[in-house]
Amino acid sequence: MCRIFGGVIEKGNIAPILLIGLKRLEYGGYDSAGIATIFEKKLFLKKDKGKIDEIHQRLKLDDLPGNIGIAHTRWATHGAPSKANAHPILDCKGTIAVVHNGIIDNFFALKKELEQTGHNFISKTDTEVVAHLVEENYMQTHDFIKSCIMSIKRLEGSYAIAIISSLDDEKIFVAKKDSPLLLGIGKNENFVASDAVAFIDRTKEIIALNDNEGAIITKSSYLIYDFNTDNYIKRKSKVYDWNFDIASKAGYDHFMLKEIMEQPISISWTSNIQKPYLDLISEYMDKSNKVFLVASGTSYNSCIAGSYYYSNLANLATYPSIASEFIDQFGNSIDINTSILFVSQSGETMDVIQAVEYARMKASTILAITNIAYSTLTRLARAYILQQSGPEIGVAATKTYTSQLMVHLMLAFNLGKKRGKLSQDEIDKLKQEIETIPKIMATTLDRQKDNVKKIAKMISNKQHVFFIGKGVNYATALEGRLKLLEISYIPSTSLNVTKKDIDAINEEKNIAVVAIIAPDANRKILIDYVQHLKDIIILGSEEDNELKEISDYLISLPNVNILFTPLIYVLPLQLLAYYTATYKDIDPDKPRNLAKSVTVS
Ligand code: F6R
Repeated sequence: MCRIFGGVIEKGNIAPILLIGLKRLEYGGYDSAGIATIFEKKLFLKKDKGKIDEIHQRLKLDDLPGNIGIAHTRWATHGAPSKANAHPILDCKGTIAVVHNGIIDNFFALKKELEQTGHNFISKTDTEVVAHLVEENYMQTHDFIKSCIMSIKRLEGSYAIAIISSLDDEKIFVAKKDSPLLLGIGKNENFVASDAVAFIDRTKEIIALNDNEGAIITKSSYLIYDFNTDNYIKRKSKVYDWNFDIASKAGYDHFMLKEIMEQPISISWTSNIQKPYLDLISEYMDKSNKVFLVASGTSYNSCIAGSYYYSNLANLATYPSIASEFIDQFGNSIDINTSILFVSQSGETMDVIQAVEYARMKASTILAITNIAYSTLTRLARAYILQQSGPEIGVAATKTYTSQLMVHLMLAFNLGKKRGKLSQDEIDKLKQEIETIPKIMATTLDRQKDNVKKIAKMISNKQHVFFIGKGVNYATALEGRLKLLEISYIPSTSLNVTKKDIDAINEEKNIAVVAIIAPDANRKILIDYVQHLKDIIILGSEEDNELKEISDYLISLPNVNILFTPLIYVLPLQLLAYYTATYKDIDPDKPRNLAKSVTVS
């Protein structure tokens, strides 16, 4: 789980550009970082352990000379975070530099072979075999590109790799398999990165590489190489309309807070999804014998809410499944008549992609909701909807969750109409209500900020937090708990609660309970359950007076149609996680144990 970035510009130094891009990629890993450049046929390198800002303060990463270079931000898999294990990784002579995201499965055998021919390994990384392989092949071919191609063919595993060499100082060679890699095609400058946010302020023209493809970029050209046929192929770039302002912090302390506050805007982008896309996916879901909703983490939580929407609005049974479990849990029961709606913000999560590959083998229909147009998921899906949340840089998913909820809702409306469950009048009324959601979100965020901050202070000293919810807001309990656990590290549990759970919770010390009590059929039983609990935080309608009496802390929320409550009720829970992390001096944009997209298993 690392990110790579490289570029060649016409003149001047590439290092400052690489440093800016690297910081935007830091969400993908932040235990070490480095940059290598070439100037006057010499390779220059700076790298170290730590976060990019700290390394930059010590080493001045941006003062490396040369118009060509590669950069890396790391999340260690093979070899602990250290200067030696930080990328770029060099060969024995210091003429070849490599950055890599992924895992080389056969690195041990390759390393043994290369050591026998006299190569000296300095790091504990799997990546180092690539540098030595290219070095070894160059001794025979005296051709940098040929040596790169020969070396990549020896690799097993997953990789997005970029290689430069002082022996051929105008080219970057890149290769991709099972890890994302995009080319950015500019005017007299070209780039390559794991994510377009790295270069989006320099060019919006993007080419997504497929698995088993490589490319050679210079400042004025690019060539794509197909490893399956050993031929160069042509592919035009596409223009993606994301602007960099959306990927900056815009004055907020953290991306996470900025993205939480941005939800009134992102939700309105999502609600503009065009009908033909909804119609196409609805068509597949409607005519299938079985429909599964498959995703990981936050995206999975959106599927839990989705399953309530599809059933209640369209009489359609759907089965949510966690991507890592899907093959074991349902693999034998899918076939050509099954549709699977995969939901993934990044479109790259390894567990999701493995489930997609399996479902393709079974000839099931692959449908998708994702935020990334040029992702692996969009390339594998029969039909997909782009959730249009804009880039999400904060590691914890926030605005992309509410967008996913909105897509499920819109699909459910569409299916409801198609299956005769909803009349046009009902749809029109629901659509009118959707139009009010951005404003309600904005008011909620504004009104709740300070209230939630106080609650977060109390929560930050607790040993355990329980999130309880029922019905469609069970999804809200799941998501509230996931956010708090991910970025504040406070052990948390979400429960579709029963009386026995409450009795057990009552015996616990130094805990807090967050209860989501929406005005629906579950309200009464939840009130009965929670009224004797201590340190109880209740989220509910501002019109529900009883909640004031039984809560220690109240989060009063606008009275909306119950279908829309998950969109609103999750907002204070995102803020709760954010402020709790800041009270605990944790950087919410760089939580331990979590990277934005999990592209390795
Ligand atoms: C939650 C989070 C992760 C992701 C999960 C799935 O805040 O960021 O749990 O939700 O890794 O990622 P996608 O949606 O990209 O497949």
